[in-house]
Amino acid sequence: MASPFLMLGLFALITCSIVFAYDPSPLQDFCVKDPDSSVLVNGFACKDPKLVEANDFFYSGLNIRGNTSNPVGSRVTLINVDLIPGLNTLGVSLARVDYDPWGLNPPHLHPRATEVLTLVRGTLQVGFVTSNPENRLITKVLQKGDVFVFPKGLVHFQRNIGHGNALAFSALSSQNPGINTVANVVFGSVPDISADILAKAFQVDKNVVLNIQSKF
Ligand code: GLV
Ligand code: MN
Repeated sequence: MASPFLMLGLFALITCSIVFAYDPSPLQDFCVKDPDSSVLVNGFACKDPKLVEANDFFYSGLNIRGNTSNPVGSRVTLINVDLIPGLNTLGVSLARVDYDPWGLNPPHLHPRATEVLTLVRGTLQVGFVTSNPENRLITKVLQKGDVFVFPKGLVHFQRNIGHGNALAFSALSSQNPGINTVANVVFGSVPDISADILAKAFQVDKNVVLNIQSKF
């Protein structure tokens, strides 16, 4: 049997990895992002608390519809720590998502956050896919007032299946959730992932890959 010390070490390791998988908990009331600090830490250095003011915790303009004139017909307006410096160390952010009729927020994931979406207007088909090997699609049609959770790190999407525009607001469990859109990271990386690699990965002809890459 493994020694108690080894077991204890393993337990500590697992516990630490769980703790560090999320934004760290604050150790003070707030730590407003200091725009002038050059100190590199996980997050941002704190502004002098004496200089902190209400505007550090404030954002105005989330009533404004995002510009959906793009090939997918949707727009995510992400309000993270860059726009509200007071979010630094607090582990949350939010987003407004606008959709044209049939607009799609294409498959993407947030590397650092779970998302809780509330539909305010319209009808959305939403879904996320579980990890390998199951890759199970969990999907639902949402109506106004419905709430849906997209677990951290899982690929998810929303599509407006109503006749008018749709509008949703999301809460995200990180001050800086990140957005990795699958098509962009795979076919629009800089520099390109070689077409040979993608042709093999997607089991298609190299020309299909080159064609998709030319769109990103
Ligand atoms: C934003 O990222 C969203 O999925 O609503
Ligand atoms: Mn999302």
